[in-house]
Amino acid sequence: ETPVTHNHEETLVLVKPDGVERGLTGQILARIEAKGYVITELRMLTPTREMLVKHYEEHEGKPFFEPLVEFMGSGPVVAARVTGNRVIEGFRSLAGATEPTTAAPGTIRGDLGRDWGEQVQKNLVHGSDSTLSAERELGIWFG
Ligand code: TYD
Ligand code: MG
Repeated sequence: ETPVTHNHEETLVLVKPDGVERGLTGQILARIEAKGYVITELRMLTPTREMLVKHYEEHEGKPFFEPLVEFMGSGPVVAARVTGNRVIEGFRSLAGATEPTTAAPGTIRGDLGRDWGEQVQKNLVHGSDSTLSAERELGIWFG
C-alpha cells in the first residue's frame, strides 16, 4: 500500500470559454479555494491558436482536436496557477470525468456541466494530468 505523503505541487487550471460565458468562474474558483488549494497567479485572456496547439499537442491528429482548439479560442479563458498538496490529482478529482453528461455529482463537471451532445469540449475546466504536463502547461500560460 502506498503511504500518504505530503507532496506540494502546482497545476494549471483553465476555466474554459463555456465556463466564463455562463458566469461560472467565481463558483469554480471558490470550489478550488474551499478545498484549501491556493491560487497564486490568475489571468483572463483569449488564447491564440499557437498557444492552444502547444497546450493540446498530445491530442494532435485526433478527431476532436480541431473542434477543441477552435472552441478554446472562441472567447476568454481564465487561467490559474494553483498550488497545494497533491493538487494535480486532487483538482482532476474535483473536476470530474471528461464528459459532463456522465461526470459524477459533487464534481465541477458533474454539478455545473451541461449536456451539449457531441460537444464534449464544452466541459468547463482543464487541469494538468502530471507534474511534467503541469510544468509544460504553466510555461505556456504564464511564461
Ligand atoms: P482529455 O485530455 O482526454 O480530457 P481531460 O480534459 O479530462 O484531461 O481531452 C482534452 C479535451 O478534449 C477534453 O477536456 C474535452 C475534449 N475531448 C473531446 O472533445 N472529445 C473526446 O472524445 C475527448 C477524449 C476529449
Ligand atoms: Mg487532459
